[in-house]
Amino acid sequence: MVIYGVKDYQEMSRKAAGIISAQVILKPNSVLGLATGSTPVGAYQLLVDAYKKGDLDFSKVTSVNLDEYKGLSGEHDQSYRYFMNANLFNHVNIRKECTFVPNGLEEDGAKECARYDQLIESLGGVDLQLLGIGGNGHIGFNEPAGIFTKGTHMVTLTQETREANARFFSSIDEVPTHAYTMGVGNIMSARKVLLLASGSNKAQAIYDTIFGPIDPKVPASILQLHGDVTIIADKAAMALVQDKL
Ligand code: F6R
Repeated sequence: MVIYGVKDYQEMSRKAAGIISAQVILKPNSVLGLATGSTPVGAYQLLVDAYKKGDLDFSKVTSVNLDEYKGLSGEHDQSYRYFMNANLFNHVNIRKECTFVPNGLEEDGAKECARYDQLIESLGGVDLQLLGIGGNGHIGFNEPAGIFTKGTHMVTLTQETREANARFFSSIDEVPTHAYTMGVGNIMSARKVLLLASGSNKAQAIYDTIFGPIDPKVPASILQLHGDVTIIADKAAMALVQDKL
């Protein structure tokens, strides 16, 4: 693991945007695995700025997102498809037909999960997978569990995750109860992984990810077994590991 401790959210975003830009410049037809949530917003903004300055070209890039709420259409302003359009895709020259997010409206979970796994395989896998991390160590919507789940699957969201995400909805009752997510196996198959963390509520998860046992109770801990992981975490998120590195 390469671990960068940085000052704050801005610096985390700058470093992350630099790594993603380098990936796209070195391999213009990269397959980017993308994440939603508050963590990557700053990096996406900087990628948009770089594109507007003429420094970055997304015309050959393909993207696959980690997850999507079940039951929300892409037009719902809290769907992850909507988030990606609003924060990145609408502002750069990526071809929309080359951007993929699980279909939250597909009722048949088994069908949607198999389709998404086949899609990732048909793209030749993910070159760079961007990740945020939950306060409980989740990656994508892979919540703490008894086993690591390999492929795309449907999850029941924990109360903790629904509460954490309730800030984006008018009430917790509106937060969907289920989601589709890439599995830990999909994430581990990416050629490179870039995990970002900001804020003191991520400190324990970052500690457990780096130093804890590899345990599905902290899904991100499996990243210790990946050969090419970069973690960029700000001071608050690094609080428990700073002295140990
Ligand atoms: C989002 C995702 C989640 C988030 C995580 C952190 O696509 O997969 O695992 O990365 O919940 O969320 P934020 O960034 O809002 O703290």
